[in-house]
Amino acid sequence: MSQGNRVYIFDTTLRDGEQSPGCSMTVAEKLRMAHKLAELGVDILEAGFPIASDGDFEAVGEVAREFPWIQVAALARANTLDIERAAKSLEKAKRPRIHTFIATSDIHLKYKLKKSRQQVLEEAVSAVQLARRHVEDVEFSAEDATRTDWDYLEDVCRAVVEAGARTVNLPDTVGFSVPAEYGELIGRMVKALGDKAILSVHCHDDLGLAVANSIAAVQAGARQVECTINGIGERAGNCSLEEFVMATRVRQDRLPFTNGIHTEHLYACSQLLSSIITFGPQPNKAIVGENAFAHEAGIHQDGYLKERTTYEIIDPKSVGVPKTKLVLGKHSGRHALKDRLQDLGFDLNKEELDLIYQKFTEMADRKKGVRNDEIADLVRVHVPRAVTVAVK
Ligand code: KIV
Ligand code: ZN
Repeated sequence: MSQGNRVYIFDTTLRDGEQSPGCSMTVAEKLRMAHKLAELGVDILEAGFPIASDGDFEAVGEVAREFPWIQVAALARANTLDIERAAKSLEKAKRPRIHTFIATSDIHLKYKLKKSRQQVLEEAVSAVQLARRHVEDVEFSAEDATRTDWDYLEDVCRAVVEAGARTVNLPDTVGFSVPAEYGELIGRMVKALGDKAILSVHCHDDLGLAVANSIAAVQAGARQVECTINGIGERAGNCSLEEFVMATRVRQDRLPFTNGIHTEHLYACSQLLSSIITFGPQPNKAIVGENAFAHEAGIHQDGYLKERTTYEIIDPKSVGVPKTKLVLGKHSGRHALKDRLQDLGFDLNKEELDLIYQKFTEMADRKKGVRNDEIADLVRVHVPRAVTVAVK
């Protein structure tokens, strides 16, 4: 498998992201989000964990049906029931992937699985073999790989590839690793597997290092990065898709990797996700935060006005952020509000817009500015019809 410098973007917003607090999505919401992710150009879309709920089962099937050109992945623990359910959800998919996993660290083996290393290795191999009976494209993940004994991990990696896995994912499940160490681990496993499989990484952000670790891994030879929009995911979240992609775009001199992401859709994707789940990115979040392209300090404003690149390393238009930041406050008009509502996915008729405008001006009179989530809340409370339509 010649991999060159092309990095595959595996989006798990609809699975790892969706399973975290405040982020659950209906099937219709997953489809709306999948539409944007397809437009964005992700290579693999993990749409759910079919054994977990009927909704997840349905979502995987529907996403695969709507977007047949994308590889759609379904997650399954390394057991027969999970794998059969994942396979069924992907029955009509054109490019199905079963993503099966089992923990490999001693800490998980002792306390969670109560199994020996040999047992886990055998179960991993059987799971991959079973998945291969259903689909060609099987990914295996060694959960908690970064706290696993490296020699044992190498044995597991070799065995699952022998059993038919095309992608081997080594997750930093608890966000414990640091870049140099993770790069070393990935480099060793890339060497062990050669071109028999693609090495994938999946980093959590417990120490705020998920993006840095993913970059170190790609420099060491990983060619699939698992990530989410706005970095949502279990606990502190996953590697943020927009940050990883923009780091490689902006620093091609140091990170000469390619991917298929159309970056001009990043901001819209982030906004859509924020309107579906219960929170948006923090204002100072890189790339998609409200302040990512705002300048307040006088010296910065002065430099920026003389030459944009003095204080901006990214052209906001390249990630879909409108050049001029429209701050919605008490002086804003109906037109600006209507534009913002449309950006947020709400299509209101004249009477509804008048009502929201009235509520908006009442709120703006009491505050320094009105945020997107507050505007979306006004629609949810006063025009619930528009929310249902937007969700369809
Ligand atoms: O964090 C993790 O280990 C996971 C696996 C299921 C890939 O999400
Ligand atoms: Zn995870």
